[in-house]
Amino acid sequence: SPAALARAESLIALTPDFPTPGVLFRDVGPMLTDADALADVMQALAAPFEGAFDLVAGVEARGFLFAGALAASARTGLLPIRKAGKTPRPTASVDYALEYGTATIEAAGDLTGRRVLLVDDVLATGGTLVAAAALIEQLGGEVAGVAVVLELVALSGRRRVPSAHAVFTA
Ligand code: PRP
Ligand code: HPA
Repeated sequence: SPAALARAESLIALTPDFPTPGVLFRDVGPMLTDADALADVMQALAAPFEGAFDLVAGVEARGFLFAGALAASARTGLLPIRKAGKTPRPTASVDYALEYGTATIEAAGDLTGRRVLLVDDVLATGGTLVAAAALIEQLGGEVAGVAVVLELVALSGRRRVPSAHAVFTA
């Protein structure tokens, strides 16, 4: 319900000057420790995609938390997309740009015929989700949707991920 989501949203903690001076950091951590907020946010995260996915993918590290919770509540499988060097025999690898420098994500497996809901905590510049979507396609999967808990509108990630479903915006 809107009231339940408003309550969940109020648990996003604002921390000025983290991780660097001038940044107002929005921490979704307190949502995870609150049972109702977690359930309400998971419901809102998946609602537009009901019946359209059979696997949930999340990006290390914070994306794992919401992807795992969502996969369990939706009774689907779970695909962890890891940062470079942690997957023994990666079958797909994608490099992407960070604010400073670059990063690589990897995963293993064959996603042929799988309809994948890609989940992350935050949509910021969108680089992570663009890379993760490309990775899912490299593995043979179909990206059935992209869902985030929080979209940081000022960082314009929506330009790069126009279809993203965001439960909250800031
Ligand atoms: C954060 C966040 C998203 C990403 C969003 O992860 O969890 O995955 O940044 O940023 P973008 O839209 O600009 O790509 P981070 O790389 O900080 O890793 P963490 O989850 O390990 O904290
Ligand atoms: N919160 C979480 N992740 C982020 C933020 C934030 O405010 N800014 C960039 N990534």
